[in-house]
Amino acid sequence: MGTLFIGSGPWATLETGVLGPRNATALLDAGERQGYAIYVEDGTIRSGGTIPEMRTRHQSAEVVDLGPGLVTPGFVDPHTHPVFAATREDEFEARNLGRSYEEIAKAGGGIRNSARRLRALTAEALAEGLSRRADEFLLHGTTTIEAKSGYGLSTDSEIAQLEAIRLVSRNHPLEFVPTFLGAHEIPDEWRHDREGYLRLLCDEMLPRVAREKLAVACDVFCEAHVFTPDESRRILNRARELGLAVKLHADEIRPTGGAELAAEVRALSADHLVQVSEAGMAAMRDAGVIPILLPATSLYLNLPKDAPGKRMLELGLAPALATDFNPGSSPTRNMSLVLSLACIKYGMTAAQALGAATWNAAHAIGLGGKVGALAPGFQADLAVFDAPNLRTLPYRMGENLVRTVVKRGSIVVQDGRRCR
Ligand code: NIG
Ligand code: FE
Repeated sequence: MGTLFIGSGPWATLETGVLGPRNATALLDAGERQGYAIYVEDGTIRSGGTIPEMRTRHQSAEVVDLGPGLVTPGFVDPHTHPVFAATREDEFEARNLGRSYEEIAKAGGGIRNSARRLRALTAEALAEGLSRRADEFLLHGTTTIEAKSGYGLSTDSEIAQLEAIRLVSRNHPLEFVPTFLGAHEIPDEWRHDREGYLRLLCDEMLPRVAREKLAVACDVFCEAHVFTPDESRRILNRARELGLAVKLHADEIRPTGGAELAAEVRALSADHLVQVSEAGMAAMRDAGVIPILLPATSLYLNLPKDAPGKRMLELGLAPALATDFNPGSSPTRNMSLVLSLACIKYGMTAAQALGAATWNAAHAIGLGGKVGALAPGFQADLAVFDAPNLRTLPYRMGENLVRTVVKRGSIVVQDGRRCR
C-alpha cells in the first residue's frame, strides 16, 4: 500500500516537461499547481494530480495531509564542505578587522588551519559531527547534498572524511553525493615540494578513492594562491582516467581562466565564478558546464563583487545555487537564504531561484531525473513551508519557514523539528 501526500496550498513541482539543465526562460516555469497530491510507493512518486482526482484513484492509500503551506521539492545543495573538526570564528573576526581571506590562507590559516585540527580525528569521530550537521540540513528543507572532503590533505585523513560520509549516509535520511577534494590546498609539509603533493594526489590518493568507490567526483580549488590551471588540469585528467566526474572551484577570488578549463575538461560544474570572463561563460555554455553560484560566500567574504549571475542567464547558461557550507567562508546551511541572495544579486525570480536550487542543482551533481522535482519517477523528497506562495520564500530573507520535510516518502521533519 502506498501513501497519498495531499497539500491544499500552492505547490511548485518543477514538473514542466523541459528535460535537462534549464536556462533562464525554462526556469521561469516552476510547475506551479494549487491544491495537489502525489501518490508515493517505496519512496518514489508514482503519480500526481488534483486532490479529488487522486483521492478517488487511491482510496486504500494512507493519507498524509501536508496542510496549506507551500510544497516544493526538497532543496538539493550541490556544493558543501560539511566534514570538519572545528569552526573558525577567529578568522571571521580577523577578516572583519581588515585581513583578507587570501592573506590568512598564505599565513597558514584557512584550509590549512582546518587540516591541522582534523587530522587528529577518526572517521567515526568525524561522522558524529557530520551527523549533527546533517540534521541541520534537513531542518532547512534540504534533502540531498554534495559533500566534499578537503580538510585533511593527507591520504589517511582524506579517506577518513569520505568514510565518515559513507558511515552517516548509511543511517541518516539526508542523501550524500561524495566528492574528493584532496586538492583543496597544499598542506604544510608539502609547501616546499608542490610536485610531491601533486604526485601524492595523482598516484596515491585518487587511485585509492576510485578503487574504494569513496567518491563520485573530484574537485580542485583552482585559484591564484592555491592550484594553477595547469596543475588543476593534471589532477582532473587523472581523476577522469580513473572514472570520476570532475568539477572545479573556479575564478573565485582572482581570474585565472578556471571557467575555460572547466569547459575544456567537460566538468560537470564550475563553482563560484565571481571573476569569470565573458569568454569563460560562453565556453561553459557551449560545453554544457553548469555554473554553481554561491552568493552566501561572496557576502560572507565581503568580496568586492558577486558572480555575474544575471549575465549568465542572459547568455543562456543553466545555473545552480548552493550554500558552500564550510567553516571558513560560508557557515550557513540555509538554502532559503541563498535563494534570497540570488534574487537580489542575480535578478532572479522566485521560480528561477527555486529551479536553480532543485532541478539544476540535481543535474550539477549527476542526479538529474532522480531528485529535484515532484514528478512521477522522482524520489518523494519534499519540503513544506509556512508560506502562502512561492514568492514569500526568498522575500522572507534569513528566516527558516520549513515546517515539514519528507525524504524518500518518510517524514523526517515535522512542525519544524527533526523526527525519527
Ligand atoms: O568553497 N574556496 C574553497 N573552499 C571553500 C572554503 C574553504 C575554507 O575556507 O575552509 C569555499 O569557499
Ligand atoms: Fe567550496
